[in-house]
Amino acid sequence: MNSVTVSTPSKKYYVHTGAELLSAAGEIAAPLRGTGKALIVSDSNVAPLYAERVQKSLDHAGFTHQLHVIPAGEQSKNIHSLFPLLNAMASFGMTRADTVFALGGGVIGDMGGLAASLYMRGIGLVQLPTSLLAAVDSSVGGKTAIDLDAGKNLVGTFYQPDLVLYDTDTIATLPGEQLANGFGEIVKTGMIRDERLFKASAAEKIDAAAIANLVHRCVEIKRDVVRSDEKETGLRMILNFGHTFGHAVEKCSNFSIPHGFCVAVGMALITAACVKRRICEPEVYSRLVAALRVRGLPAATRYSADDLFASMMADKKRASNTVTLVLPREIGVVERRKVMLDEAREFLEEGLELTKNAQEAVA
Ligand SMILES: NC(=O)c1ccc[n+]([C@@H]2O[C@H](COP(=O)([O-])OP(=O)(O)OC[C@H]3O[C@@H](n4cnc5c(N)ncnc54)[C@H](O)[C@@H]3O)[C@@H](O)[C@H]2O)c1
Repeated sequence: MNSVTVSTPSKKYYVHTGAELLSAAGEIAAPLRGTGKALIVSDSNVAPLYAERVQKSLDHAGFTHQLHVIPAGEQSKNIHSLFPLLNAMASFGMTRADTVFALGGGVIGDMGGLAASLYMRGIGLVQLPTSLLAAVDSSVGGKTAIDLDAGKNLVGTFYQPDLVLYDTDTIATLPGEQLANGFGEIVKTGMIRDERLFKASAAEKIDAAAIANLVHRCVEIKRDVVRSDEKETGLRMILNFGHTFGHAVEKCSNFSIPHGFCVAVGMALITAACVKRRICEPEVYSRLVAALRVRGLPAATRYSADDLFASMMADKKRASNTVTLVLPREIGVVERRKVMLDEAREFLEEGLELTKNAQEAVA
């Protein structure tokens, strides 16, 4: 088992990565949270596979528990699922001494986290990520959210968990597309902070043990970045590498293309533009595209500059008429640059021009 300690101004917690951790969830959580009431929140794909392991472990540790299952998918990450979840917590008679166990991918982690932060102004939260994306990204860092009709993640809180357990045995049932989805964020983390991680993420052959090591390193990096900027006013923005254009692709696809795939395209676009502007060497781009190809991720899009730019304009992270772009200088080194929207559009157009022939396009 690998462990990372995350200390933020609001909370200190452990992120453990390793085999058979779902079966140890109760035992590990009990000393931190006491053995009160536990509500396991999960989705309709994950609950049949893994809820029983968590239930047995909570029984064994002495928790009283209930299971609340939500239909799988992003379409559940909204107020219509949040209210029944909060009501289930109330009906179960939960108090601040009790704990939500969020068992699933990023959708469950985001919504379970939001419910835990809202109910009685905040109760215990244990994140049990089961998708690779949730393990490397959404379960750590404290962002919680639901979507509105007007856009993704528009309602949320910053709320750190008390514990994160990533059971690497859950990789066995993760669909291939979801594995690639998580790799989008792993490649990104290597690109922004760690060339060795980048190289390891691009290895032709990769097994569960190697993935566990990659997750551990990604969590360490996210921990270091979030520690110095919990609320994303400065350094934390580097985690958005590839996300400005990636979100635009995601929005253009009406969220039918998985997040990690869109981030992959976003990284390729911004890196290509940086080659054109001599911010980085062509080799940075070619290595990125090679890594994406190995992991089954795209490096180009067929959406037009007009459509992508319109989507960018609607992105909530845009402050007034400027946008902060995260630009690669080398593999493992990026800089933040605030640019006017006109210049961001030039970056986008240059990226689109240069990635046209990269590989199979998205959409
Ligand atoms: N809070 C953050 O910092 C943050 C960061 C990145 C993404 N997110 C959010 O995370 C969400 C995406 O997360 P996701 O990609 O995990 O999506 P998801 O939760 O929808 O999971 C993807 C699919 O995989 C299934 N699944 C998960 N684990 C499985 C397993 N082990 N075996 C079989 N099936 C499994 C799920 O049921 C679902 O169908 C988005 O809503 C995004 O906004 C949040």
